[in-house]
Amino acid sequence: MKTTNPSRVSEQLARLISTVKEDRNGAPSEYLEDVEDRPVDGFAVAVCTTDGVAVSEGETQQAFALQSVSKALTYAVALQERGMDAVLERVGVEPSGMAFNELSLHSDGRPYNPLINVGAIMTHGLIPGNDEDARLELLLDRYSQLAGTDLTISEDVWDAETARAHQNLGLAHMLAASQMLPDEAHEVVRGYLGQCSVEVTVEQLATMGATLASGGVNPVTGRRVLAEWVCQQVMSVMLSCGMYNASGQWMAEVGIPAKSGVSGALLGAVPGALGIASWSPRLDEQGTSVRGIGVFEALSADWDLHVL
Ligand code: DON
Repeated sequence: MKTTNPSRVSEQLARLISTVKEDRNGAPSEYLEDVEDRPVDGFAVAVCTTDGVAVSEGETQQAFALQSVSKALTYAVALQERGMDAVLERVGVEPSGMAFNELSLHSDGRPYNPLINVGAIMTHGLIPGNDEDARLELLLDRYSQLAGTDLTISEDVWDAETARAHQNLGLAHMLAASQMLPDEAHEVVRGYLGQCSVEVTVEQLATMGATLASGGVNPVTGRRVLAEWVCQQVMSVMLSCGMYNASGQWMAEVGIPAKSGVSGALLGAVPGALGIASWSPRLDEQGTSVRGIGVFEALSADWDLHVL
């Protein structure tokens, strides 16, 4: 942020929201049809600096599911708990150039990266714990430490996702067929969909981004959650793979390590500077929030946040 004066930043965010709000393009994800109290035209933005200064505007009290944003967080936990080599043995770091739900595997059977569904399912399976409950408990604890507050799973979202799990089950079974998956396919997919259903507000999500940006110390609680090398690895993969088959364009135009989710969530982390979060459910063809892209393009340009 060029200015750390919170009221100036607040005004800037409010202006940005009123401009970007004009864009009504895109469609919300189908799973939201089964979820109560999900305003598809809602919109909120938050930033949190690595000094712990937080500013938010819009519908800041609305909770929404992390969805694919959780993939970056689970990757962080897997790296922290298992170490770099053990994780790289099971999942790569190459952009797939394909949609998020494709079976993008290297010839040795490893998913291309942890931010597409097949790689995220594998990464979820790497979380320590003998069953779905144990893995989810560990993830909820770490996600909560990243956000600085206790987070919970939305049962509504989890049910809606479970009812639409055919493709994810197919991906998990392909991993299981090559003996790559550490546990039974149904269990891992159910747990993966549980992590996707963890709910946050924009402020909580921005704090998660700020924790990554600060090298693993939550700037609000002052508590270390992740090692610095873990944050570097996660933000690198977010920059190269976080926007699926739009990652190259995102890197060139926005230049902020980021991850999108079909709830309309978008998380960004600018190393050494700040976390950014937006929420607005209408999505483009890649499954990224249309207004979220507008917010990130504007903030990257206005505050000179491109990492290069
Ligand atoms: O597994 C799925 O397909 C959803 N739970 C998450 C997909 C997602 O968020 C894609 N991102 N934009």
